[in-house]
Amino acid sequence: MTRSYLICGLVVLVGCKGSSKDEGTKGESGAKVAAAEGHASGNPFAKSAEAVVEGRKIYLKNGCSGCHGMGGGGGMGKPLIDDEWKFGSDDPTLFKLIRGEIPNQTMPNAIGKNLTDDEVWKVLMYVRSVYQGDASKINWVVPPPVPPELLAAANQQSGDPIAAGKQIFMQICTPCHGPEGKGDGPASVSLDPKPRNLTDPAYMAPLNDRYLFELISRGGVAVGKSNQMPAQSALAAQDIGNVVAYVRTLSASPAH
Ligand code: HEC
Ligand code: HEC
Repeated sequence: MTRSYLICGLVVLVGCKGSSKDEGTKGESGAKVAAAEGHASGNPFAKSAEAVVEGRKIYLKNGCSGCHGMGGGGGMGKPLIDDEWKFGSDDPTLFKLIRGEIPNQTMPNAIGKNLTDDEVWKVLMYVRSVYQGDASKINWVVPPPVPPELLAAANQQSGDPIAAGKQIFMQICTPCHGPEGKGDGPASVSLDPKPRNLTDPAYMAPLNDRYLFELISRGGVAVGKSNQMPAQSALAAQDIGNVVAYVRTLSASPAH
């Protein structure tokens, strides 16, 4: 199954729809996508998990994260994960906003001017993927789940991601989670709740890669956990991908 996802990601996505759908029905987002299929959507990439991954790269490369935060949680600029939309939430409106074509927008229009139509649609796919607001307010096609293989392939860098992730873990996670990830680092003594035991496969296996990515980049609060689990906003996306890869090894739970 993992293999077909990978191949799937590399092939043009339309051709891949069949297989990802078979597998996608396992997850609830797969079902949501199917349910929304009848909806008219302006986004030509609406069913493409690959576009979400490419959109994330465009998002990071063009400085969207500078204003809207690494995972869209906001910062200097508005959060993109909630259900408040200044000009509207539909695809055509957000396309125009990102493109820089809404007359009274304060979001700089220079960024979007340099993007192709496809790039604007893809970055909007990423924006869609980070939405955490009220599901009943969704008026767009929910992006399919991103297979972790695709995310990993996109984040691939030379060298060994697990070794690189371990190095980061040892530096910034061990004070709380302990050198073996058991949640017993020196700083854990004063914490409540306690840092999670990352070696417990029953607990760790259900946490998917996107969740871990959000948790580590934006902190516990962003995913409904304690603020004692800090955001690592200084880490690059690849570093976080590497840490996640290493954390997976602690409980031997598979990426997903
Ligand atoms: C210099 C800061 C800045 C940058 C960089 C920036 N934005 Fe924005 N963005 C804003 C502001 C401000 C708004 C609020 C709408 C407005 O007043 O124009 C906004 C609104 C949005 C919205 C709608 C959110 C809402 O709640 O209505 C989306 C989607 C969005 N931006 C996506 C992007 C993407 C994608 C990029 C990168 C290509 C990007 N932004 C880069 C400042 C920025
Ligand atoms: C300042 C202490 C601290 C540091 C540093 C820290 N964590 Fe945590 N972490 C916590 C606490 C506390 C929790 C428990 C949060 C809760 O249960 O609400 C937690 C929970 C977690 C969880 C489980 C989340 C869940 O859904 O239950 C993971 C995974 C995790 N941390 C990974 C990491 C990684 C990887 C790093 C390093 C990049 C890190 N943490 C750094 C304190 C810390």
